[in-house]
Amino acid sequence: MSFKNKTVIITGASSGIGEETAKAFLSSGAKVILVARNKGKMEASFGSYDQNQYVIYPFDLSQIDEIDSFVSRIIENQGPIDILFNNAGIGSESLFEETDLSVFHELIQLDYFSVIYFTQSILRHMLENGGGHIATNTSVAGLITSKGRTAYSSAKFALHGFFDSLRIEVEDRNIFITLIAPGKVQTNFGVNKLDSEGTPFGSKSKKPVGLSSKKAAQIILKAIKKKKRQAIISKWSDVAWFGIIVNKFCPSLYVFLAKRINV
Ligand SMILES: NC(=O)c1ccc[n+]([C@@H]2O[C@H](COP(=O)([O-])OP(=O)(O)OC[C@H]3O[C@@H](n4cnc5c(N)ncnc54)[C@H](OP(=O)(O)O)[C@@H]3O)[C@@H](O)[C@H]2O)c1
Repeated sequence: MSFKNKTVIITGASSGIGEETAKAFLSSGAKVILVARNKGKMEASFGSYDQNQYVIYPFDLSQIDEIDSFVSRIIENQGPIDILFNNAGIGSESLFEETDLSVFHELIQLDYFSVIYFTQSILRHMLENGGGHIATNTSVAGLITSKGRTAYSSAKFALHGFFDSLRIEVEDRNIFITLIAPGKVQTNFGVNKLDSEGTPFGSKSKKPVGLSSKKAAQIILKAIKKKKRQAIISKWSDVAWFGIIVNKFCPSLYVFLAKRINV
């Protein structure tokens, strides 16, 4: 599939993986609709690109009841949508026994429900239009578990269940579903992730490691182009690969190791 003249919506386009994926789509000739809360950041990041090729739609995706009318407004103004990349998301890290349950509400609202609402609005439009492609950024934490990730893994595992089921419903109607599961990627994810009280880690966060967000974006475009059902986006040296393989073939060993390793 060539991306030239395709219209792509990317959520979480103001930073990290979403920002770089938007730039990669722009470089491939797509028209890109950028969604995130921070309008100023998107204006600054995309200022050097052709202004006819992208449009900024500031929006807070945690306002899930507004999503359907927001998507309708985009389609009314920008025309048919070929590709949706559900990318916006936030992480969390804290032991469950210490976690304020408001953290679960915040994560599930953004990382799970906003994706479901956005997907349903776009899917109905794509079905009327004869097809489309919905890619979603989940996480390796949506495939395997580790300490301190009960809230985050709940949301990301749920996305895998949802999209694997949806794919069976729609794949024969020219709707492609791609799940992108990154391991570690260098972004502001660690700074923005929530602690046990729901406060962003900020300067308490570790220095980001792993793939550059630019490299991650290249792999994401390739996965969408090849209509892959699932792509794991990670350096080969990332412990994520080891974890996925051990968990698949020897789940007891995985639990033994995961109790002892902080990732
Ligand atoms: N980096 C990693 O190591 C890693 C690993 C696995 C999975 N992921 C996944 O990758 C995705 C992107 O994360 P990232 O690493 O690129 O982190 P990031 O640099 O923190 O970017 C997060 C993006 O989400 C947007 N966002 C957050 N809350 C929002 C809201 N309420 N409404 C609209 N947009 C919102 C942010 O924009 P505004 O603040 O402007 O709204 C920002 O553009 C997430 O789904 C994350 O779970 C990342």
